[in-house]
Amino acid sequence: MGKQRILSGIQPTGNLHLGNYLGAIRNWVELQEEYEAFLFMADLHAITVPHDPAQLAENTYKVAATYIACGIDPEKATIFVQSHVSAHAELAWLFNCITPLNWLERMIQFKEKAIKQGENVSIGLLDYPVLQAADILLYEPDRVPVGEDQKQHLELTRDIAARLNHQFGTEKAPILKIPEPLIREVGARVMSLTDGTKKMSKSDPSDQSRIDLTDAPEAIIRKFKRAKTDPLRGLEFDNPERPECHNLLSLYALLAGKSKQAVAEECREMGWGQFKPLLAETAVEALRPIQTRYSELMDDRTYLEKVLRQGNERAGAIAFQTLAKVKDALGYSKPL
Ligand code: TRP
Repeated sequence: MGKQRILSGIQPTGNLHLGNYLGAIRNWVELQEEYEAFLFMADLHAITVPHDPAQLAENTYKVAATYIACGIDPEKATIFVQSHVSAHAELAWLFNCITPLNWLERMIQFKEKAIKQGENVSIGLLDYPVLQAADILLYEPDRVPVGEDQKQHLELTRDIAARLNHQFGTEKAPILKIPEPLIREVGARVMSLTDGTKKMSKSDPSDQSRIDLTDAPEAIIRKFKRAKTDPLRGLEFDNPERPECHNLLSLYALLAGKSKQAVAEECREMGWGQFKPLLAETAVEALRPIQTRYSELMDDRTYLEKVLRQGNERAGAIAFQTLAKVKDALGYSKPL
């Protein structure tokens, strides 16, 4: 039996931060051993909100370099650029024509982003989950590792696949494979440094709210020093009154590679004045090798391009096959 397949991606918008690493990329590094992994930069999704053309390609390279610097091995996993495999956009169109509008209008992430955008909401923002469904279904993955916030998009993906199968396939010969989500455990949900109830996010206007993976040691130390805390004595996990305390202890556990119990024990009597420098130091040390590798990669375009070219070939070989299967089921003639 071959390996099971996973697929996931991140949008190349802005700098990647500790939340992206601890919540997503680090899990992929483990998964690539056991699964055949397809990991991409979702640059078509990146233009669903206003974007800067001067940054798009550069950000895409940066995310690729970050994947590799964090431990994704291009020999084991396939790393590719979404826009380089045109089957994504094409399948999204076909899905558009079988997806009811009201399925999209009830997407929570659309509603949240649309409120932020005000007047300037594009059809692309509404259509975002349909493109995501195409991203996924093209590769027929067994599992899709995503965060809790992407669960609804994954359900939509399954619904689109089931609808296409129902309308154009037969019970015995379904056209598309319906994937399962792989939602990571709660421990890896990294929250904002300025509000322990909000996710650490690229789109938070405050730079202080997150640790970027490329932050210099001084910036990391400063951000942890200013991170929101509470006036209580002693540190503890799982106290709903103390979301910041829970978040910072969890970060420490993840970055130090220690168990929750060990950290609870170690920090029980600590004050913030003692804990924050310890956390900052641990983060600096954990990020150091990643940052070194990242700079090397960003200085070696030839290598990065080779990885992405190879990724494009491997991804395209699968994606265009699935696309052809769908077009055939919908009754299209073959290109002459
Ligand atoms: N929407 C995902 C996010 O913001 C990114 C994404 C796009 C994705 N296409 C995907 C994730 C396909 C998993 C599979 O995190």
